[in-house]
Amino acid sequence: MNDKIVLTGIKPTGIPHLGNYVGALKPLIELANNYKTYIFIADLHALNSIKDAKLIKQYSYEIAALMIALGLNLDNAVLFRQSDIMGVYQLSNFLMNVTPKGLMNRAHSYKAMVEKNTEANLDIDSGVNMGLYTYPILMAADILLYNSDVVPVGADQKQHVEFARDIAGYFNNTYGETFKLPEPIIGETNGIIPGLDGRKMSKSYDNTIPVFVTESELKKKIMRIITDSKTPEESKNPDESTIFQLYKHFAKADEIEQFRQMFLKGGMGYGTAKTILFEKINSILSEPRKEYERLMANKDELDAILHNGAERAKIVAEKTITRVKKAMLG
Ligand code: ADP
Ligand code: TRP
Repeated sequence: MNDKIVLTGIKPTGIPHLGNYVGALKPLIELANNYKTYIFIADLHALNSIKDAKLIKQYSYEIAALMIALGLNLDNAVLFRQSDIMGVYQLSNFLMNVTPKGLMNRAHSYKAMVEKNTEANLDIDSGVNMGLYTYPILMAADILLYNSDVVPVGADQKQHVEFARDIAGYFNNTYGETFKLPEPIIGETNGIIPGLDGRKMSKSYDNTIPVFVTESELKKKIMRIITDSKTPEESKNPDESTIFQLYKHFAKADEIEQFRQMFLKGGMGYGTAKTILFEKINSILSEPRKEYERLMANKDELDAILHNGAERAKIVAEKTITRVKKAMLG
């Protein structure tokens, strides 16, 4: 097994959808078959936006259950809650002392808030809490605490991983070689899955298909995919069809080619195409869905898995904190 360490955090801010599944969760599960992988539920990062403890807890369980139900290899993957590891709070604080304030001013999400406030004639920091402002430092702590080499993320998080790399560099320059420099990777399916309305599938557009809903809900959602008004007889362009774009990520190569030809040839209505898509997705997700439902009804089992993950993560975290304290405080 390759000795690179993979790490990523999943923020519990909503119900995972097929875009998350194809773009992030499935590739992560595949990576975890070959690499030592740290996957944590980034509940501390959810704090600056979600103020309801019950909701954060519920979303956290959903993410854990979903990853396990989809077959995450728990021998290679350490699955845990971010907030269970004391070291992350400590490292975040230590890193503050080598992080220029100007770096935080350049963070995309903070800059976007400043721009919005400026346009609205408000104070530039209106609505900005320190959780949002220091978000990249906490994220650098996540990444550096576990000696990560590779950090799979979406495009919107790339800058944060680069900041983690910068912060590690500032630290190493000041205190000597302490941290490895992590690298972001963006998978080829990340960010490309269309939603019901044809725009990128996203919680913020309310156009998602959740990964685990009942079979009838799944069917209802798929039937709601917006299409153009071509008649069944007409030839259709598969590359412009949300139905085909989703199908591509669930079917085998020969099935994809056959479906493509059915689009091009004409003679297939969108209703039929949606039924084919539903049956394909359902056939892939129906077994994991049962396991997901079983786990969600057994929170003790999820707690035990997350606890075990935290115990494993703690061992590495404590070693890093000892190393950092020695470097900074002697
Ligand atoms: P959302 O836009 O629904 O809030 P997140 O920002 O929480 O999604 O994304 C979590 C992960 O899933 C990220 O790696 C992100 O790039 C990926 N992802 C989100 N939407 C899609 C999509 N439509 N297609 C592919 N990947 C996606
Ligand atoms: N900020 C990431 C997101 O919004 C989640 C996250 C937190 C993360 N800590 C991380 C991702 C460390 C990669 C590495 O999606």
